[in-house]
Amino acid sequence: MKLYPALFALAGLAYAGTVTASEIAPDDVKIVDGAVEQPLTDSPGDPERGLVSFTGRKAGNCLACHYVESLQDDYQFHGEVGTPLDGIADAYTAAEFRAKLINPKTELPDTIMPAFYRTSGFNRAAGKFDGKTILTAQEIEDVIAYLMTLKD
Ligand code: HEC
Repeated sequence: MKLYPALFALAGLAYAGTVTASEIAPDDVKIVDGAVEQPLTDSPGDPERGLVSFTGRKAGNCLACHYVESLQDDYQFHGEVGTPLDGIADAYTAAEFRAKLINPKTELPDTIMPAFYRTSGFNRAAGKFDGKTILTAQEIEDVIAYLMTLKD
């Protein structure tokens, strides 16, 4: 576990300034059997940035609904309407996380979990979010990289 900060720092150096050559647009995403195999971006997800989106009150805001024990000391107000995510990387692959984040309603039509990478097909007042996704393609990949660290 102690190695992680060093690895994250290295990854940050390697990818800093990299421009994403191509991204998969929300409408072009194909969810097949609850999974999206192809990453949305060319540049790999970064778990440290993923943690920022995961805990950010404006972006992912995952903590508003999900409890994570390892974040208990550093972040307040974990929600409980979603499943606790400790050990969740033992249950799902990155491709399955990708599908859940892009649109959890594909598998669970009634879930209250938002579709984080979708621009159409949901009830949202038109306005400044029109045509925008809640998370960017890179943020989705970053959050997946963070989720993959949540092993028991
Ligand atoms: C508004 C509440 C809410 C928010 C915000 C939310 N989720 Fe969820 N999430 C849920 C609920 C509820 C479930 C359980 C599925 C269901 O039955 O609806 C769930 C399920 C999941 C699962 C599958 C868990 C399992 O055991 O199968 C993962 C992984 C997940 N969420 C990750 C995230 C991540 C990452 C974010 C932030 C980007 C997030 N969620 C934001 C409510 C939320």
